[in-house]
Amino acid sequence: MTRVLVSQEILEEALEEFDGTGIEVDLRRDHRPLPAAELRAAAADYDGLICLLTDRIDAEFLAACPRLRVVANVAVGFDNIDVAAATRAGVAVTNTPRVLTDATADLAFTLLLSTARRVPEGDAFLRAGKYTHWRIKQEQMGVDVFGATLGLFGLGQIGRAVARRARGFDMTVLYHDVQRLPAEDERTLGVTYVEFDELLARSDFVSVHSPLTDSTRHRFDAAAFAKMKPSAMLINTARGPIVDEAALAAALRDGVIAGAGLDVFEREPEVDPQLLQLRERVVLLPHLGSATGTTRREMCRMAARNVRDALSGKRPENLVNP
Ligand code: DGY
Repeated sequence: MTRVLVSQEILEEALEEFDGTGIEVDLRRDHRPLPAAELRAAAADYDGLICLLTDRIDAEFLAACPRLRVVANVAVGFDNIDVAAATRAGVAVTNTPRVLTDATADLAFTLLLSTARRVPEGDAFLRAGKYTHWRIKQEQMGVDVFGATLGLFGLGQIGRAVARRARGFDMTVLYHDVQRLPAEDERTLGVTYVEFDELLARSDFVSVHSPLTDSTRHRFDAAAFAKMKPSAMLINTARGPIVDEAALAAALRDGVIAGAGLDVFEREPEVDPQLLQLRERVVLLPHLGSATGTTRREMCRMAARNVRDALSGKRPENLVNP
């Protein structure tokens, strides 16, 4: 019998993808990840695994699961999986690209607008009964988004979707990535390639859209913040460890940069206590990027299809092994 383990709660209708396949699926209905040793023990007798970004799939896990043929992450990012070790072990790894692009780009733009216009501060002010009269010197005075310069660090699918949204705000869009787009695509998208330091120096908003890799880890550190405008704001909906969180908290506290909108954190779900203390122009969200019902449903279905196909001898659509 071919068996699949779903490591944590998912949207269960996705399991319809296995109907009629004869594949047996065991769903853990818990919404918390298992500690590493328990996950290893739980998955030991399965051929396929559907997991979330909070499950760590490393060489030790793979060694403990000799039957495993496929690991499907319900996320586009897969830095929680040691893909090289999986490839050596003959295990296919898949992710869920495209289906979450627009939801995540919407959230990145929401964070940018909320940080620039201090939306949570205004909401808290009103609920605290402090809105007694309209005044010109508004307590939550913000900065303009329309016509500003947006710097995109990473121009994959989500970065491009953010660039398209920025057009509606008449923004100048710069980008930096390991790969430069063909000139024709740059023109169509209305983006200009610049080196990293120029991106930092010229942008009013820097939005992070790269994967977490050895070369992007802590790419935004104290030295990077020192190169940004004192009025600039950092938006991160990608992965927390791309930003040195302690350095960011210090840069915000000392006025090196003006604000930050963060959906991801270095030691998620922990958030640096120094960041939690900063309330002005700092907006913090619990990793909501893809959190719309439609998107999360599609992600779960895509992961299920990837496992089903891999275990039925087909090449899964979203294979990430090289
Ligand atoms: C991803 O897919 O990588 C997001 O972080 C969660 O949707």
